[in-house]
Amino acid sequence: MLRLSLLSVALAGLVHSTSLTVLKTTTTPNGFHEAARGWNSFGIQANPNTTPSWTGFNQGNVTPECDVLATAPFKAAGYQYCSLDSGWSTNNGDQYGRLLYDPTLFDLPSFADHLHDEGLKLGVYVLPGAFCSDGNKTIKGTTIKLNSTYNGNNDGFLRCDFDFSKPGVQEWHNSVVDLFASWGVDFIKLDFVTPGSPDNGAHLVANNSGAVIAYHNAIAQSGRQMRLHISWKLERNDTYYDIWRANADSMRTDQDINNSGANNFTMWQTVQRAIDNYRQYIVLQIPKNQPISIYPDMDNLFVVNSANISGVTDAERQSIISHWIGAAANLIHGGDLENIDDLGLKLATDSDAFAAADFSAQYPMQPRNPGTGGTDAQQLQAWIGGPSDDGEAVVILANYGPAGPQAGFNTSIARVQTVSASLDDLGIDGSGWNVFNIWDKTNSSVSSGGSLSADLDEGESVFLKLTKSA
Ligand SMILES: *[C@@H]1O[C@H](CO)[C@@H](O)[C@H](O)[C@H]1NC(C)=O
Ligand SMILES: *[C@@H]1O[C@H](CO)[C@@H](O)[C@H](O)[C@H]1NC(C)=O
Ligand SMILES: *[C@@H]1O[C@H](CO)[C@@H](O)[C@H](O)[C@H]1NC(C)=O
Ligand SMILES: *[C@@H]1O[C@H](CO)[C@@H](O)[C@H](O)[C@H]1NC(C)=O
Ligand SMILES: *[C@@H]1O[C@H](CO)[C@@H](O)[C@H](O)[C@H]1NC(C)=O
Ligand SMILES: *[C@@H]1O[C@H](CO)[C@@H](O)[C@H](O)[C@H]1NC(C)=O
Ligand SMILES: *[C@@H]1O[C@H](CO)[C@@H](O)[C@H](O)[C@H]1NC(C)=O
Ligand SMILES: *[C@@H]1O[C@H](CO)[C@@H](O)[C@H](O)[C@H]1NC(C)=O
Ligand SMILES: *[C@@H]1O[C@H](CO)[C@@H](O)[C@H](O)[C@H]1NC(C)=O
Repeated sequence: MLRLSLLSVALAGLVHSTSLTVLKTTTTPNGFHEAARGWNSFGIQANPNTTPSWTGFNQGNVTPECDVLATAPFKAAGYQYCSLDSGWSTNNGDQYGRLLYDPTLFDLPSFADHLHDEGLKLGVYVLPGAFCSDGNKTIKGTTIKLNSTYNGNNDGFLRCDFDFSKPGVQEWHNSVVDLFASWGVDFIKLDFVTPGSPDNGAHLVANNSGAVIAYHNAIAQSGRQMRLHISWKLERNDTYYDIWRANADSMRTDQDINNSGANNFTMWQTVQRAIDNYRQYIVLQIPKNQPISIYPDMDNLFVVNSANISGVTDAERQSIISHWIGAAANLIHGGDLENIDDLGLKLATDSDAFAAADFSAQYPMQPRNPGTGGTDAQQLQAWIGGPSDDGEAVVILANYGPAGPQAGFNTSIARVQTVSASLDDLGIDGSGWNVFNIWDKTNSSVSSGGSLSADLDEGESVFLKLTKSA
């Protein structure tokens, strides 16, 4: 027995971690090379008590939030998109069944002009299908009645679903996107896409992925560049992932992370779930050996406001944006940009962090478990993006704290822990690296055979930029 265990210790010392397959991205279907950066209205719509200036979802309240994106530090960090969530449109279409903005809330052409004058861009929110009540209207440029294109399902959001095999369906999408283009829309968020989206009380068809294809084709024929983001918690198997990655620029990997009707925006246990959903998603991409043409959407960032408004501690705020950056996820804030604190400004605009975001956009991170290099969910975790051919990489070491119900891991180790990942665990042994701590601005180095290590309290992480030593 003794000899056997000594032998296995000796063997364990020789076992190396699985080799690292570096993940890379490529141009998205609508022509983008990085995830969108901006602000979206839904966090405040769902939690208006967080935002003293907010008296309702309308242009008057959205404008000052988005104007912050046009200030120098936000501009320098690459923010562009002012994304309106659900509620900007009327409950019926025009004479062709095209979507209309609610003129009591928004004047979208003039709002788009305002944003474009500041160098920003406008996003709108849509659902699959067209209004059931528009069934007798004729699709623009055709003699086809909308009701002849429907498949018989009313989704419960006033929309009837299309039968994507029917003539006229693509023409309707073209007419809607052409109208958006005439207003100056730059981004479409298509929600409740199936398979994947939870029903949430509606009557979703099992497969409305045809809407993703139709909006993509409509954008292409419109002559205006627009992003297409699809939501929420989309099916990840190859059958549908191949549709998403051929048509959309980002896909939601989790449900909403916002609280609802609260005085603060989110909860750490929900963030644990969002990080684990990214882990599940990205682990599926490792064996495919194909460049990734769609960016993940981990939902809005709730990091710019003080801890009591964000709903997460300062350390957790820093961990959230580090993970969203490392994942190359959309960097779309959902907080109150008119009320940011000093830490919020740093987290939202730090030039080293946004240089890392530019890097991650090409080299998204993957999990490498401390001690094994595996990809499981773990409370004490390590991640790596890259290394690039130029010898650069981004690393996160994290202590997620005791597991919430959907953390993926189920340990509950309390307080400060040492999180240590060897270069072998990370899959990059064989050379030495200079290590720059992105938030703390400190430098160190690690040589071949060494480890990266940090003492981290619950919810804490370190975000590191590695450069191969000369
Ligand atoms: C369409 O027109 C027919 C005949 O006038 C009418 O019975 C039906 O209710 C109309 N449908 C809608 C959705 O307006
Ligand atoms: C569809 O529109 C046609 C023409 O207006 C109408 O005759 C028919 O009743 C409509 N069908 C439904 C289900 O509304
Ligand atoms: C799902 O919808 C897409 C697009 O309309 C279609 O190509 C595909 O065949 C559908 N899949 C199933 C299983 O119905
Ligand atoms: C992919 O997901 C769809 C919808 O959840 C399911 O019907 C289909 O069987 C899955 N296909 C594979 C190959 O797993
Ligand atoms: C986010 O807000 C929406 C709208 O209030 C709500 O339906 C949803 O449940 C919220 N998400 C969570 C995780 O509470
Ligand atoms: C939240 O915390 C900030 C300081 O971090 C404080 O100024 C503010 O009054 C607090 N707000 C509430 C509602 O407690
Ligand atoms: C955020 O709001 C929720 C729901 O109202 C509450 O349970 C929680 O304690 C709040 N979190 C913080 C950090 O204040
Ligand atoms: C949680 O821990 C139990 C007991 O160790 C184990 O059986 C179970 O598989 C774990 N679940 C997850 C999701 O890791
Ligand atoms: C850390 O290293 C970077 C270059 O790798 C350098 O620009 C920076 O000044 C260094 N910071 C400190 C505090 O030495």
